[in-house]
Amino acid sequence: MANHTLTTVPDHVAIIMDGNGRWANARGLPRGAGHRKGIETVREIVRAAGEAGVRYLTLYAFSSENWRRPEDEISDLLGLMKAFIRRDLADLHRENVRICIIGDRSNLQSDILPLLIEAEETTRNNTALTLVIAFNYGSRDEIVRAMKSLAQEVAQGGLRPEEIDSRLIDARLDTGGIPDPDLIIRTSGEERLSNFLLWQAAYSELMFVPEYWPDFNRDLFLAALERFAARDRRFGGLSSSNRVASSK
Ligand code: IPE
Ligand code: IPE
Ligand code: MG
Repeated sequence: MANHTLTTVPDHVAIIMDGNGRWANARGLPRGAGHRKGIETVREIVRAAGEAGVRYLTLYAFSSENWRRPEDEISDLLGLMKAFIRRDLADLHRENVRICIIGDRSNLQSDILPLLIEAEETTRNNTALTLVIAFNYGSRDEIVRAMKSLAQEVAQGGLRPEEIDSRLIDARLDTGGIPDPDLIIRTSGEERLSNFLLWQAAYSELMFVPEYWPDFNRDLFLAALERFAARDRRFGGLSSSNRVASSK
């Protein structure tokens, strides 16, 4: 294994876990087999992120658009989410991982919501990695819900329109209190955000890797962190070398 000494570890890494279906297809297996294998990758990457010093890891598990898939696949995906929490919650809690769930909770199956709440409640005071699971999540839906809540507050007289600023909007999103992602990785070669963290990704570094999610692993994750450390983030300003030069 390469010597992974990182100079700049991203505080928050978000991952679009894509390619489970194609991984399974390539092996002549049903798509569900790819989703099941993908859970093993989740376990490996959660551990690797914590060990690397990443403080927030967000995983895109189920999008608000994934309801367009066939019913049996949806039921596979929901079943796996439930099984993951049932099986892994105790281990994650022991490892001091804090779990946060983002996404719309209003129309979830009655047996899944209590599990999500249990995962958050059990781990709320943990202080190692924060694992954010994007479940029934769509960025536009999240923004719509945040705007509705601001509009209601204005209508009720609790907020003046001129008080609305980007910090207030930040706080109303499902990700309120969670820093913006420094790095967004998408597996499987697709190069799009698919309605993931659109507001929060304003200055995220984007990285698209060819491997399908079930083939992604610790070494590929650490390699992505190394590539991140070599990027020059400017946030609209100048790169650090120019800043030094121009201040002379
Ligand atoms: C990602 O893999 C998992 C989810 C979207 C839930 P896909 O199921 O999208 O796999 P592909 O993209 O069809 O290969
Ligand atoms: C994004 O992947 C959603 C998740 C990883 C949960 P999709 O596979 O659903 O995205 P598209 O449809 O290819 O854009
Ligand atoms: Mg996909």
